[in-house]
Amino acid sequence: MEGTKRKLIELLANNKSQSISGQELSKQLNISRSAVWKHMNNLKKEGYVIEAVTNKGYRIIKAPDDLSASTVQWDLHTNWLGQHLVFKETVKSTQLVGHELARENADHGTVIVAREQTEGRGRMSRYWDSKDGLGLWFSSIFRPEYLEPKRASQLTLVAAVAIADYLSKRDLDVKIKWPNDIFINGKKLAGILTEMQAEQDAVQYIVLGIGMNVNHQHDDLHETVQHKATSIYLETNEIQNLNQVLTEILKELENKYEIFMGVGFPVIKEMWEAYAYKIGEWIQVKTKDIWDAKVVGIHDDGALKVIDHLGKQHHLYSAEILW
Ligand code: BTN
Repeated sequence: MEGTKRKLIELLANNKSQSISGQELSKQLNISRSAVWKHMNNLKKEGYVIEAVTNKGYRIIKAPDDLSASTVQWDLHTNWLGQHLVFKETVKSTQLVGHELARENADHGTVIVAREQTEGRGRMSRYWDSKDGLGLWFSSIFRPEYLEPKRASQLTLVAAVAIADYLSKRDLDVKIKWPNDIFINGKKLAGILTEMQAEQDAVQYIVLGIGMNVNHQHDDLHETVQHKATSIYLETNEIQNLNQVLTEILKELENKYEIFMGVGFPVIKEMWEAYAYKIGEWIQVKTKDIWDAKVVGIHDDGALKVIDHLGKQHHLYSAEILW
């Protein structure tokens, strides 16, 4: 987004309940009064509802519901996550853009959002269906000051807790299926993909992608997953404002990341376990053979903690769990 427009939205967003005069805007933005007027007209064309009161100035009453760089910025109330926002209409994958930007030294907290992904990817190289404007497809770049590579996968659990907290505040009964699936009423709503670039003993950067079905109706879901996937709309019967969902999740993610870096994983682990799918239940695990295991939580390293029927504890990392 062009710099002046970005600053204009920021000024107006900081004055949501009062008007700001054309003169003040022109001074702050270092542009003429008529240039301010032109910018305001452009915003109107984009669907912003603007109140213009003689002798008082401008106030945005409502931003458009459409997902765009400026509407995300309008709702954003984080300190750093997403403050640098890259918005794309269509991309192959926001993960790819994230890696590209990270290699070009993009800031910690940069977020890439797309309306549509043509080659969205999930874990284990699975395809991630990312239809235009129906869901949230975004990747965040993190540059932890110091994080051992083996701990990077914990960030998946940090993000899962952030999403779960957001959904449970909306009264949805959310579960996290280890390691990265967000479930509501037994169906998958969102997934997380954490990819990192590391040197031998420290993570250089992490690109953490979140895909969430938001306004999908039943037929919008790919027919192969219709029986096992859901969306916020399908769970609430209400069309969601994508900007608001995104900015709320970014706020939760920023907060959980700070907890993770500040006090460490154990606090996140406790939060995670409170949402754990099938905790206390018996599942099947496929390693060399198939065996029964009871889910008891997660280990400090983020691995799934299960016990077998002799009571022996196991760490599960990439084993296929037959939920
Ligand atoms: C999974 O459940 O397997 C993880 C899905 C992650 C999908 C998101 S959508 C935004 C980002 N870009 C991608 O290509 N993938 C992630």
